[in-house]
Amino acid sequence: MAASLKVNGAVLATVAVIFLAAVLPSHASTMVDEPAANYKPAAPAPPPPASSYTPPPFVVVHGVIYCKSCKLRGYNSGMDASPLPNATVSLVCYGDEESGYRVLNQTSTAADRNGYFIVMVYDVDMFDRHTCRLYLRSSPTPLCARPSVPSNPKLGLTLVRDRAATAPRGARGVYHARTALMYAPGAGGKCPLY
Ligand SMILES: *[C@@H]1O[C@H](CO)[C@@H](O)[C@H](O)[C@H]1NC(C)=O
Ligand SMILES: *[C@@H]1O[C@H](CO)[C@@H](O)[C@H](O)[C@H]1NC(C)=O
Repeated sequence: MAASLKVNGAVLATVAVIFLAAVLPSHASTMVDEPAANYKPAAPAPPPPASSYTPPPFVVVHGVIYCKSCKLRGYNSGMDASPLPNATVSLVCYGDEESGYRVLNQTSTAADRNGYFIVMVYDVDMFDRHTCRLYLRSSPTPLCARPSVPSNPKLGLTLVRDRAATAPRGARGVYHARTALMYAPGAGGKCPLY
């Protein structure tokens, strides 16, 4: 009994040594080769408890897309325009030398029934309200697809900080376009039917 335990103990010890020999050097070399700051464990870290979870930083760009001069659902007589559900815009940010002149080009959510869209920018380093523009991207209907604001679809709208909006947790800022974006009916002037 005792002998067999000893044998097993010796076998276990040998296995442990082999195991450690196999495991330790790779860890050791990783730590020697890379500065501690760059060391990333291969396995994903367990999710932190909900109370201490910090969402990644992001910037919100939001607004409303309208169909000009059409009396559709939600018509606004002051603007003479109606929300255009399912239309989209693009947020384009032009990086400088520091980013290697990278361009961020992100499509918004499809506008909801109130014409409301949102762009969540997680590439926060690329966001600078002075170098970002909002462009009309797509209309859901050929009956309201002529760019109206901005009228030149190649000239985007500049952004301003939305001081009225409550920034969600983690948001670095909330922005909207200088004015609402609008499509308009084409030459025939026929409006969509919704
Ligand atoms: C918007 O898109 C959804 C899903 O594709 C569709 O069901 C809906 O009819 C569209 N609404 C309008 C007003 O185009
Ligand atoms: C952004 O992407 C859209 C969709 O792919 C494209 O139509 C548009 O030309 C792009 N804009 C820029 C400035 O790259």
